[in-house]
Amino acid sequence: MADVIRDPAAMSAWSEAARARGERIAFVPTMGALHAGHVSLLDEGRRRGDKLALSIFVNPTQFGPGEDLARYPRDLVGDLAKASMVDVAFVPEPAAMYPAGSQTFVQVRELEKGLCGERRPGHFVGVATVVLKLFNIVRPHVALFGEKDFQQLAVITRMVRDLDVPVEVVGLPTLREADGLAMSSRNAYLSPDDRKRAASLSRGLRAAKARHDAGERRAAALLDVARAELAVDRLDYLELRDISLVPIDVVDIDRPAVMLVAAFVGATRLIDNLRL
Ligand code: PAF
Repeated sequence: MADVIRDPAAMSAWSEAARARGERIAFVPTMGALHAGHVSLLDEGRRRGDKLALSIFVNPTQFGPGEDLARYPRDLVGDLAKASMVDVAFVPEPAAMYPAGSQTFVQVRELEKGLCGERRPGHFVGVATVVLKLFNIVRPHVALFGEKDFQQLAVITRMVRDLDVPVEVVGLPTLREADGLAMSSRNAYLSPDDRKRAASLSRGLRAAKARHDAGERRAAALLDVARAELAVDRLDYLELRDISLVPIDVVDIDRPAVMLVAAFVGATRLIDNLRL
C-alpha cells in the first residue's frame, strides 16, 4: 500500500529526499475515481521512474458553477487498492492547495479557447493552475496524462514549455471499453440506457476515421459521418482540428488531424477524440 501524504510541505520533503538519492520521480496527477485508463498511466509511470507518485485531488477551480464538483465520485480506499504499484499518494485538502488569499492563476491564452475551454469557461485556468502547483510540490521528472483530455494535454504541454517547468510531459493513448467508450470517471454516472448511447461518441469518431481511411479529406463530410452516429441528448461540439488544435477544412496528408467531440448523454458530459 502506498504512503499517503496530505500535507504539501511533507510531499515536497518526500520528493527532495528521493531526488537527493538520485532517483527519478514519475508522477500521475488525477482527481481519483481511478479506472483502467489511470492504471495504464501508473503502469507506464512505474516503468519510467525509480519512484512513482500519484495525486488524488478533486480540484475545485476547474469546475464551473452548476458542474459536478459536489457529486464527483470519491473513493480513496478503492483508489489506493487499484494504485498498489505507487510509492506515494498525495491527497491534499482544498484548503492546503488554495490557502485563504490565493490569487494567482495560470492562463494558457490561445489553447484554452474553443472546444472545452469555450463550453467550460475558466476550466483550463483551473487545470493549468493546479497542475503547475502539483508540479511545484511533487517536483517530478516526468508526468503522465491521458490523451482522452486532448485539449488539456495541449494546455499543459504549452504551459510547461512557456514557463520553463523542468518536467517531461507524456501523453498516453485513451483506454476504451469493449464497445469503444473512452474510459472516464464520469462513466459511473451513466444509467444503463445512457451507457449504451454513450458508445455512439466513439462509434462516430471511428466511422469518420474509416471514411478518412477510404480517402475522404473534406472536414465537413467527415464531420457529417460522425454526427450521423451520435445518439446523444446535447452536442457540445464536434470539430476537426490539426493536432496543434488549429481548426481545418481539409485534412491534408502532411497535416495529421484529430476529431474531437463533447456531448451530454442524459446529465453526463462526455468527451472523446480520435486521430485521423
Ligand atoms: O485530468 C484530470 O484528472 C485533471 O484535470 C487533472 C489533470 C488531475 C487536474 O486536476
